[in-house]
Amino acid sequence: MKKDIIIILDFGSQYSHMIARRIRDIGIYSLLYPYHISINRILYNKPKGIILSGGPSSVYRNDSLLISDNIFQLDIPILGICYGMQVISFIFGGQINKSKNKEYGKSDFIIDKENSLFYQIPKKSVVWMSHFDEVTHLPKQFQIMGHTSSCSIAAFKHVNKNIYAVQFHPEVKNTEFGIHMLKNFSMNICKCHANWRLNNFIKKSIYDIKKYVSNKKVILGISGGLDSFVTAYIIYKAIGNSLKCIFVDTGLLLNGEKKIIYNLCKKMNFSIKIINAQHHFLSKLSGISNPEMKRKIVGREFVYLFQKESEKIKNAKFLAQGTIYSDVIESSISDNHQNIFSHSIKSHHNVGGLPTSMKLKLMEPLKKLFKDEVRSIGQELGIPKKILYRYPFPGPGLSIRIIGKINKKKIAILKKSEHILDQELTNFGFKENVSQAFIILLPIKSVGVMGDKRTYEYTAVLRAVNTEDFMTATFSKLSYEFLETISNRIVNEVSGINRVLFDITSKPPSTIEWE
Ligand code: XMP
Repeated sequence: MKKDIIIILDFGSQYSHMIARRIRDIGIYSLLYPYHISINRILYNKPKGIILSGGPSSVYRNDSLLISDNIFQLDIPILGICYGMQVISFIFGGQINKSKNKEYGKSDFIIDKENSLFYQIPKKSVVWMSHFDEVTHLPKQFQIMGHTSSCSIAAFKHVNKNIYAVQFHPEVKNTEFGIHMLKNFSMNICKCHANWRLNNFIKKSIYDIKKYVSNKKVILGISGGLDSFVTAYIIYKAIGNSLKCIFVDTGLLLNGEKKIIYNLCKKMNFSIKIINAQHHFLSKLSGISNPEMKRKIVGREFVYLFQKESEKIKNAKFLAQGTIYSDVIESSISDNHQNIFSHSIKSHHNVGGLPTSMKLKLMEPLKKLFKDEVRSIGQELGIPKKILYRYPFPGPGLSIRIIGKINKKKIAILKKSEHILDQELTNFGFKENVSQAFIILLPIKSVGVMGDKRTYEYTAVLRAVNTEDFMTATFSKLSYEFLETISNRIVNEVSGINRVLFDITSKPPSTIEWE
């Protein structure tokens, strides 16, 4: 049976790839293309449905991103999401304006009219909004299907055609019945069959890597995180010890990290070399306070060290990286994206800092996969649970958790605080309940009193989040007792800190890391 296809036209939303991902989760093959691909290219794939993604543009601006209205003559069902909804409205003559109340985060959505998109979905449910424009006048031949308290046209439908649109994001897991809506669209409206699975990925990757690498050597910067470990394992399976793992001790790592990673690599039989580069990174980052510069510097120095190391390894031709989809999306670089696309949020070091002069060819076997997909592959490969469920740790390490300029003293303060957090998460049994937790050191000093003496010290922030895909996240609802313990221990045991804060913001509007 030939697989059914849904095409997503990408207007540059941070969530566009997630739409593709959710559709694949349902078991339907999805392809993501820039919004401006030709109609012929769309038709070539014989899609059973088209989704117009969200995006940061505004339809009423001169430089707005629009599509040809011929798409609506194809007789293929269409679903517009957020900006995609505004595009449909604009093309059909509706009116779009700046919202009076910008909506970011959860909203209660009320279905006003039953229809196939909302089949078997309760009249009231939670949806995820993230928009600054909204449809204020419905185009002719469309009818409203639902609203929220601050958005009176939150969903609409063409009266005769299969053209639907929603202002919220069904692809984000915070939309309670989002998957259900995408399922309704793809299966009930587009009549797709769930005939695609994420299978054979490992086998195919191993086959491709073997063929591609042949008798050359691959260098991999292993960070100890899940992504680089799964990457290492797949490449190791393909080419054995032609894979040369390099672990760079940047001095920006958590306590004891070097030993843990070295032992794990030895257990897996990986060939591993440790580079001690603490001083190198500290001197390169000295005086730098701009977050993007820190990221770029760490990325650049990583590559520099790899290149230097590769010159010592005969026949080294490839640099492997554990880049995954979310890194690619958030750095605005992907096969399907041109740079004008998604607004860059942060340069993730593994995609942001590569110089064009790099002599090694890049190999990123996981770059089309999301974190949970990487984890299932890791599980299948038998990677230890300890690695599978480790908290992610950013490439630029503690440098981006020290806000502003970094120095040895601040690194030591942060390492000690992170160690306390790790101990208490284990003591309280919270480690598995939280997706990621860490400490940020602020460059702000405030007055305190300890042992009758005035103190004037730095501030630490506890960040703990729950998330499924790290694209959106909510702060973890930790107990007051836990928060009190963390605060007491850090202030008492870490000299240099006299105040501890708890970050209670979601992503979006914040990101998980502070820089
Ligand atoms: P943000 O801060 O963008 O983080 O919400 C999302 C997730 O990505 C991790 N992160 C990184 N991972 N290299 C990485 O491999 C990086 O440069 C990087 N920056 C952020 C972050 O810890 C969170 O889990």
